Amino acid sequence: MNELEKHLTEIVGDAHVLVDADLRAQYETDWTRRFTGEARCVVRPADTAQVAAVVRACAEAGAPIVVQGGNTGLVGGGVPGGGEVLLSLSRLTAIEDVDPLEAQVTAGAGVTLEKLQQHARPHGLDVGVDLAARSAATVGGLVATNAGGIRVVRYGSMREQLTGVEAVLADGTVVSRLSGLTKDNTGYDLTQLLAGSEGTLAVITRVRLRLVPLLPARTVALVAVDGVEGALALLTAARAGLPGLSAAELFLPAGLELVRAYGRLPDPFDAPHPAYLVLESAGRADATDEVLEVLGECEAVLDATVASDVTGVARLWAYRETHTEAISAAGVPVKLDVSVPLRELPALVAALPDTVAAVAPAARPIVFGHLGEGNLHVNVLDAGDAAEQVTDAVLRLVASLRGSISSEHGVGRAKAEWLGLSRSAAEIDVMRRVKAALDPAGLLNPGVLLR
Ligand code: MLT
Ligand code: ZN
Repeated sequence: MNELEKHLTEIVGDAHVLVDADLRAQYETDWTRRFTGEARCVVRPADTAQVAAVVRACAEAGAPIVVQGGNTGLVGGGVPGGGEVLLSLSRLTAIEDVDPLEAQVTAGAGVTLEKLQQHARPHGLDVGVDLAARSAATVGGLVATNAGGIRVVRYGSMREQLTGVEAVLADGTVVSRLSGLTKDNTGYDLTQLLAGSEGTLAVITRVRLRLVPLLPARTVALVAVDGVEGALALLTAARAGLPGLSAAELFLPAGLELVRAYGRLPDPFDAPHPAYLVLESAGRADATDEVLEVLGECEAVLDATVASDVTGVARLWAYRETHTEAISAAGVPVKLDVSVPLRELPALVAALPDTVAAVAPAARPIVFGHLGEGNLHVNVLDAGDAAEQVTDAVLRLVASLRGSISSEHGVGRAKAEWLGLSRSAAEIDVMRRVKAALDPAGLLNPGVLLR
């Protein structure tokens, strides 16, 4: 063990500095199995003071750091590029009592989304963000990537839930803004600067989040529509006709087929249809009548099945939520997460098969996502050695439609090369200057977001 590892052991204890390859392994590969890199060691501090001491020790040794939460990221931003100290925040699991007056809570970066939901719900409150990886994804990572998920259509992304953070800067300084003031115009908003910064500016150790009312009545419709244009027509009707609209999710026949085979799920409809939507309305009372009225008035609707009991709701959501698992079970996909203005969505979906086939003829694109934000998850199976070409072709297509190359997963290592497709040279220059001011030696998540 060399000097730095010895120093880290003094800070966090023997059991929490992992040097052996077999102990490091589970931290070194992301769960899609697409990104992997060797860490110099894995360090697991217990609290903010230990994180600060670890970061200071690394800064003194000139050792780069990669920060990891639940390791559920999809752009390689939480696994090593090679040789970094891997700073795992999985032990920062303290949660403070829910403050029902402010409807806020403070949680350690390593608290999973599911734990936070379970903590809030007995108070009649809930977390505004929800996503399929809830049991493993941690709030630190959710803030660092500004995660979105299935409720953005109602409550916005992670940054909209955020009222403050505590973070450790690259030199070990702790900045803390956890008072939870919802109005506070006293200069630069450091909290929002760190949201979506992907661990490149500071290590987020605690977050303060606003909570939303827990809505016990959920009505879910799995709807077959006549195409993506039809899905948008239904979205328009749902936005106007369902005050409780809390999800609008899109998937296509290829995804449905994969999910059904993987989960042994029955065909929800008698015949295949061009596109499918999961619509959810949540409130204090059952909204089945409202949902049926909206569906009945929309010409694009070909068929629908509606549920408002707990089992039925879970059964319908499974067709959408098991997409990621089903795709991963079928291979290691190229995962792209993009958004375009809603008007351009039909053009994007129509152009994708040929765009992918032109560079990877045997590849299978599986497309699904969050319709409300024009956010598509383009997962490409069987791309072979054409992953880079597929990424390039799809991201250029998205840029040509005035879209974003990363809608909700971040840029990470996966898309750093293509940042210029979504951000101007002037914007990237500002980002570099902010990075240089906060992390002059470039020790935090090198290779992530900015190359
Ligand atoms: C989802 O919406 O299911 C997630 O963003 C995960 C994914 O893209 O695979
Ligand atoms: Zn998503």
